[in-house]
Amino acid sequence: DSPKITVIGSINMDLLTETSVIPNEGVTVMGERFSTMPGGKGANQAVAAARLGAEVSMIGCVGDDEFGHTLLDHLAKEGIFTNKVKPVTHSTGVANITVHKANNRIIIIPGANYCTTPTMLLENSDIIANSDVVLIQLEIPYETVIIAIELANRFGVKTILNPAPAQPISRALLNKIDYITPNEHEIADVLSMEPDSSLETLIEKAGHQFIVTKGSEGVFYLEDNKVIHVPSFSVDVVDTTGAGDAFNGAFAVAIGRGYSIKEACVFANAVGALTVSRMGAQTGMPSFKEAEDLVKKAKIK
Ligand code: RIB
Ligand code: NA
Repeated sequence: DSPKITVIGSINMDLLTETSVIPNEGVTVMGERFSTMPGGKGANQAVAAARLGAEVSMIGCVGDDEFGHTLLDHLAKEGIFTNKVKPVTHSTGVANITVHKANNRIIIIPGANYCTTPTMLLENSDIIANSDVVLIQLEIPYETVIIAIELANRFGVKTILNPAPAQPISRALLNKIDYITPNEHEIADVLSMEPDSSLETLIEKAGHQFIVTKGSEGVFYLEDNKVIHVPSFSVDVVDTTGAGDAFNGAFAVAIGRGYSIKEACVFANAVGALTVSRMGAQTGMPSFKEAEDLVKKAKIK
């Protein structure tokens, strides 16, 4: 019941500015609020999975600085195994996030995250071998992503790649991954296709491993060459930061628990929806019970 998930990925401090106006170039405006919050797609997905009851190990890097220490403590408090998170001399990754009318703009400075090397994974291959699912994003070096997938394949461990931030990925690598979870904007970049192609065209081209998220509209994937739509849950949106991460962490837990793709999508949609109803990427990640309750409530309706 408690799947073992290894997250190989980024750990950032989110520098969150809430504002009702976005300044034009050369203009100064007054914002509403500033806060620092733990983030990074890797860490967010690790926290999502841990809150849902998975046994989560994280492999990544933080700086040997104040943000790094705070983030490590925080991950440990969430019950995540952090002994393979390496403190390095580069500064901890940061994300500059502006939240404007519940939408966000993010600029990332990866810093220490780029010290997550293939060697680090080769040294920790036992952790990968002992996992049910390996969950990866693209905020670490691409060569590390390749090794992560190859190691998981070698040990017969399921892989999920959340290709965010999006970049083109070779077909050879895509073919080695069990599930690939771009959002509706990222899928074209991943496949190196025209961004104005219809989602249907993109999904058909992408193939059966792709699970494509589309915000409040839910999820789309291919089954027997037909596009299946799994609608999401409606909630009051406060901050969409971390919605994709909540989805991915939850999807990994569901796959680890042996759910069908459809069940995994419903569950992960619920977790994503609950997360966007609260400020911050990790703060709003729900428990297993909260997510199950939302799924049940929707079934009764
Ligand atoms: O997906 C949201 C995350 O992206 C933020 O927490 C930020 O750190 C960036 O990595
Ligand atoms: Na949120």
